[in-house]
Amino acid sequence: MSAAYVPPFPARPAKALNPLSALVKARRNLLSIWHEGAFERFIMPAVLPGRKILVVNGVDAIKRVFLDNHDTYNAKSPQMRKALTPLLGDGLFVSDGDVWRRRRAMVAPAIESAQLPNYAPLMVACAEQTAARWEQAPAGSTLDLLEEMAILTARIIGRTVFGDGITDAEAARVVRGFSAYQAVIEQMDILSMLGGPSWLSSGRPNRKAVAAASEVQGMVDLILKRAGADARNMRLAASLLAAAEGVEDDPAAAIRNEAIVLFMAGHETTANALAWTWSLIAHAPDVEARLHAELAAVLGGRSPTLADFTALPYTRAIFEEALRLYPPVPLLSREALAPDVLRGHTVSPGDIIVVAPWLVHRHKAYWREPDAFRPERFLAGSEEKPPKFAYIPFSGGARICLGARFGLVEAVLTIATLAQRFRLIAPPGHSPEIDCRLTLRPKGGMHLRLERRP
Ligand code: HEM
Repeated sequence: MSAAYVPPFPARPAKALNPLSALVKARRNLLSIWHEGAFERFIMPAVLPGRKILVVNGVDAIKRVFLDNHDTYNAKSPQMRKALTPLLGDGLFVSDGDVWRRRRAMVAPAIESAQLPNYAPLMVACAEQTAARWEQAPAGSTLDLLEEMAILTARIIGRTVFGDGITDAEAARVVRGFSAYQAVIEQMDILSMLGGPSWLSSGRPNRKAVAAASEVQGMVDLILKRAGADARNMRLAASLLAAAEGVEDDPAAAIRNEAIVLFMAGHETTANALAWTWSLIAHAPDVEARLHAELAAVLGGRSPTLADFTALPYTRAIFEEALRLYPPVPLLSREALAPDVLRGHTVSPGDIIVVAPWLVHRHKAYWREPDAFRPERFLAGSEEKPPKFAYIPFSGGARICLGARFGLVEAVLTIATLAQRFRLIAPPGHSPEIDCRLTLRPKGGMHLRLERRP
């Protein structure tokens, strides 16, 4: 077996940067500010004028923030709320306290594992639509896998939420609306979103953000109104509607906000991770061979079903390893609501806690060869099982991603459908760069050459 592939990552300064250099670097790429030692430390305090930030890497402290003492930390940073509220309103992604609890209870049953038999056939049908399109591509075509996966996951989440109530063209318009919104809010400095002082911000949530948000909201209202005329047209949205009635003062607004949350949270994350997955496979012939062997043994060329999910552990391990190396949400932030102590550091109300999957997933205390692509570490029986809270692509504890199982199943069924028929080849010199914004994605897309498998 040859040495494991080590995919590119931003160069790490040898020692901690002074605050000014860190700020300058952070504006270009937030992931390039972490020095080598940051991947060994368990807690790192930083004081910016008017704000204390604690970067927490230790699994014990992460567990305290996300689970054991989560009421103290169950608030997104004020900057994050400010950035996303024009779009999501009181949607659960940005809500705290009672509203969050009520909405989580409303949305969870609609996407929990028990619902997957309703959604999995749609996932496969959408992946097959992509395959049919790829079959038509001229030999030797280069595809942007980031765009391909974004179209696919938007179609899947769109149809999951609205059923036949949404057309492909409308799903694409909603996605374009999200991109426009993101482009506006990302002009704000990412540091200020994480809790830096407002003078760091290079922009404000402005009229453009509000305009982009109301465009998305208008489209979703329209789809809901039209589809809602016939409940059979709506899948997940119909269960939300039933759950909201009699509980919410304004059920229509509540459903619209949660539908936008699901659309936003549920498409770009999976798409980014899948784009990285194809690149990783393209660079690791041993992994690709083992993937093909698993697919041949389990599926033998037929389409996958939900029942095959557990029979494809290596396919799943590849995706889990991609999520470790390139966590789509690389930084999570919370505002402390009450005093606490984390690893000997005093926490005061208003302090910002940053938990960075980017750091934790490559932490030297938790992972062997942390920068290498080695899917087998996720197989059952592997001796490398990391401690709980060292693997947090979906966050953890009380606010863990509601779509974690959905996303995993969607990814495995997509990889299984497409990898049976196609290979994606990295062109010479292919070395994708990381773009770290609200989500982590390949800069400029992920361009790979398509080849049909014999
Ligand atoms: C690989 C794919 C995905 C990744 C990596 C991912 C990651 C995350 C993370 C890290 C959070 C927590 C954010 C925070 O605490 O600040 C989150 C929250 C959430 N995700 Fe996902 N997600 C994925 C797919 C999905 C899908 C497919 C759905 C819906 C079908 C979804 C729905 C949600 C919702 C509703 C929340 C908010 C939960 C709450 O605040 O209580 N996610 N996701």
